[in-house]
Amino acid sequence: MMNAIISILLLFTALTLPYLSVEQQPKFFTCSSKDKCDECIRTFGCAWCSDPDFTGKRCQKNEEFTTKCNPNYIMDPKIAISYEKETPLTEVKPRGSNNGYGSNTGLYSSSQENVVQVYPQTIKLRLKPNEGNPHRFYMFYRQAVDYPVDLYYLMDLSNSMKDDKDKLSLLGDKLAETMTNITSNFRLGFGSFVDKVVMPYVSILPKKLIQPCDDDDCYQCIPPYGFRNHLSLSANSNLFVNIPSFSLIEPCKDCAAPYGFRNVMSLSRDTSKFAGQVKSANVSGNLDAPEGGFDAIMQAIVCREQIGWREKARKLLVFSTDSSFHYAGDGKLAGIVKPNDGCCHLDNSGLYTHSTIQDYPSVSQVNLKIKENSINLIFAVTANQVDLYKRLGNHIEGSSCGMLSEDSGNVVELVHQQYDKIRSSIEMREKDLGNYLRLKYYSRCLNLNGPLIETNKCDGLKVGETVQFEIDIELLSCPTDRNEWNHKFYIYPVGISENLTVHVDMLCDCACQYPGHASYEENSLRCSGHGTLKCGRCECDIGYSGDDCNCTSDADKIDKCRPGTSGSLCSDHGVCKCNKCYCNSYSPNEAFWGEFCECTNFSCPLINGKLCAGHGSCVCDKCICDEGWIGPECACENSISNCTVGQDNEICSGHGTCECNKCVCNKTGEYYGQYCDKCPRCPNKCPELKDCVQCKVHNSGPLIKECDECNMIIEVVDYLEMTDSVEFCSAYDEQDCRYTFTYELIGKKIKVTALKNKDCPPQARILGVVFSVILSIVLIGLAFLLMWKFFTSMRDRREFAKFEKERAMAKWDSGQNPIYKQATSTFKNPTYCGT
Ligand SMILES: *[C@@H]1O[C@H](CO)[C@@H](O)[C@H](O)[C@H]1NC(C)=O
Ligand SMILES: *[C@@H]1O[C@H](CO)[C@@H](O)[C@H](O)[C@H]1NC(C)=O
Ligand SMILES: *[C@@H]1O[C@H](CO)[C@@H](O)[C@H](O)[C@H]1NC(C)=O
Ligand SMILES: *[C@@H]1O[C@H](CO)[C@@H](O)[C@H](O)[C@H]1NC(C)=O
Ligand SMILES: *[C@@H]1O[C@H](CO)[C@@H](O)[C@H](O)[C@H]1NC(C)=O
Ligand SMILES: *[C@@H]1O[C@H](CO)[C@@H](O)[C@H](O)[C@H]1NC(C)=O
Ligand SMILES: *[C@@H]1O[C@H](CO)[C@@H](O)[C@H](O)[C@H]1NC(C)=O
Repeated sequence: MMNAIISILLLFTALTLPYLSVEQQPKFFTCSSKDKCDECIRTFGCAWCSDPDFTGKRCQKNEEFTTKCNPNYIMDPKIAISYEKETPLTEVKPRGSNNGYGSNTGLYSSSQENVVQVYPQTIKLRLKPNEGNPHRFYMFYRQAVDYPVDLYYLMDLSNSMKDDKDKLSLLGDKLAETMTNITSNFRLGFGSFVDKVVMPYVSILPKKLIQPCDDDDCYQCIPPYGFRNHLSLSANSNLFVNIPSFSLIEPCKDCAAPYGFRNVMSLSRDTSKFAGQVKSANVSGNLDAPEGGFDAIMQAIVCREQIGWREKARKLLVFSTDSSFHYAGDGKLAGIVKPNDGCCHLDNSGLYTHSTIQDYPSVSQVNLKIKENSINLIFAVTANQVDLYKRLGNHIEGSSCGMLSEDSGNVVELVHQQYDKIRSSIEMREKDLGNYLRLKYYSRCLNLNGPLIETNKCDGLKVGETVQFEIDIELLSCPTDRNEWNHKFYIYPVGISENLTVHVDMLCDCACQYPGHASYEENSLRCSGHGTLKCGRCECDIGYSGDDCNCTSDADKIDKCRPGTSGSLCSDHGVCKCNKCYCNSYSPNEAFWGEFCECTNFSCPLINGKLCAGHGSCVCDKCICDEGWIGPECACENSISNCTVGQDNEICSGHGTCECNKCVCNKTGEYYGQYCDKCPRCPNKCPELKDCVQCKVHNSGPLIKECDECNMIIEVVDYLEMTDSVEFCSAYDEQDCRYTFTYELIGKKIKVTALKNKDCPPQARILGVVFSVILSIVLIGLAFLLMWKFFTSMRDRREFAKFEKERAMAKWDSGQNPIYKQATSTFKNPTYCGT
């Protein structure tokens, strides 16, 4: 039982020990438990001493090393930030003297060539994992005046868009003028698309390939008229043949063969060409409702050269359609399974060559290319398609969606609006961040005195206004692959092809772990020539071990660190070096030692919260008791002083045993008390003692002759005191006098205390009282009897008198019963005539 308790106690202390010591001594535990330089510096607040001559714990709190370790050998890489490229933001000045540039905003940018909108451009960060606080750096964005704009108008030219095309050709000049008003540096381009020229998207009947539009759409009646003179009278009869039929029918002229995508007009400053190009473009026809717009978007983005996108320009791609779109997977309907490769495939005439070879691109492919090329995609779609394209826009970075009227009459306002919307908001995004870093953006946006809000987006921006972003970066952990410790990522404003390039140097190990450092030495003598000295410690070659690598480690010898062959190595409380256990110490007042670190000085039984009951010391899990104490817990006093009373008295009054200086009374349950001397149910000693008391105190009784034989001390008192420890006795002598006394057992001795006076009855009076009581009872009884007799006889006499009187009053004799009838009756027959 005791063993079980002790082992539970041991188990409990062993389990709680590491946690307790962490709580009490976090610094002690965290730094000093690291025994490699890289593990040490990755721990918050710890530094490593790589001095080979240093003795003691090499990993400690960094400030503790200032005196102990040679400063040249302290490994404590510091986090840092350095600005590598800092071209200032392009200044925005109010327009002063006429410089020819600028716009109607009244502002101009000081430099037109190398506009800079993002500051800084390159920074270098040195980061450590597990730093207490994330590292913060700043980034600025300012929109330059007159920033170049490239607008490429991509139009669905299926037959239903004919009116839109006509309208756009009319509005082309206005669009160019509006945009030129915004920026003087504006370029415009135009492209169109239909769909892949295969079934089921497009009819491939030979006739339809030449003339895909329905006849109804293409042939027109001329307006009706009353009379027209077609041919005046003439001698030339041949002319008559040319007279058209009664109603003129003209074939559809501008319905051309279908195609996938065609770059009609590359981006150009000559915006006046735009309207003409749109006008001369021919509509075409296809079969199904969705169009091949994704093919066209992909080509328009990736064919940077053919389309003519500039690097430093706001790139707007307006996508105008009245129907939905085909996307990756739809190609299967026509047997096209080769996925889209996201590359440019335009021939010299600007026609998409891989239309029937590759499938449509997927949404994420489009999004990826949009991000790579910083293009703002504007969907200009008819009302019935707005919902669809808005949802598509959620998956495409920097895109927006506007509603086109049926004939594209509002296209100029739409483009202007969407451009303003795009331009006035700025959103920061990151690229190639990886899994080990975490960014958080904060900004006050335009409200410079306002609160710092966690956001990567600001709205309502005007030209020349600067927005500051504060960016927190945190290295979550060190990548396992060392090649990733030098990492580069980009932070860019969405839709702008400028960025902040961030080089991150992850401080995940120590220079002294690599050749070239003073603390690095191969086959070092300090390591007995069998190991490499790294950061002050030996890293032994295979087959050697120990601090100095002068110990050949054989696998079977490792068993010398185990109790038996199966026990755990150094009882899990130490390390096995050179076939010897070196015990850990987790906290200064708890020690492990012993050959296998199996001993502790804190795993002894606790009694009342004290190790070894406070009467011994704990040595190797066993209590060594102080003098006068025994037992496994030292809780037992080695003495019998509390079991006896006086010198000669028996231990526990002979009714129990003395255990740990305490009486344990016999199990019979009769005796109790400190000395097992109390026994409430035992027959008392009153009868035994009464005769002696009578003779000694009252000089009477049967023992009067041999009174000297009563060998006891009797104390005579006037008043008897009753306590728990005394027994009370009383007895009557020959004169019926009551005498009382008490006795007390002290060990074997009896102490008697007797009352001096006895209590005798007053004899004569009592008889008199008794007789008078009896007499009066008899007399009263007699009186009652007499009264009763008198009353009853009175009553009897009265009753008798009454009876007599009634007798005298009786009128008649009672000789015959008046109601008696004769048993026979006589009847006479009246008709009887005889006698
Ligand atoms: C362009 O700006 C001029 C002058 O600022 C203005 O008169 C004209 O209406 C603007 N054109 C358009 C299409 O907004
Ligand atoms: C449009 O069609 C007409 C007649 O078929 C043709 O002459 C013209 O070249 C076509 N335009 C373009 C841009 O292909
Ligand atoms: C970031 O900007 C630099 C020039 O400042 C450029 O070389 C690099 O390609 C840009 N990177 C991205 C991802 O845009
Ligand atoms: C080799 O080990 C012994 C203890 O076994 C030690 O005293 C000695 O200093 C070590 N030798 C070297 C060169 O480190
Ligand atoms: C255990 O031993 C250590 C080191 O000798 C000592 O500092 C500590 O006080 C001891 N603890 C107990 C409970 O005896
Ligand atoms: C009570 O205990 C004492 C001491 O152990 C023993 O000598 C004695 O016989 C016991 N008496 C009874 C009645 O068990
Ligand atoms: C013995 O008696 C002394 C004095 O009354 C007391 O302090 C001590 O605790 C007792 N010992 C035991 C084991 O009960």
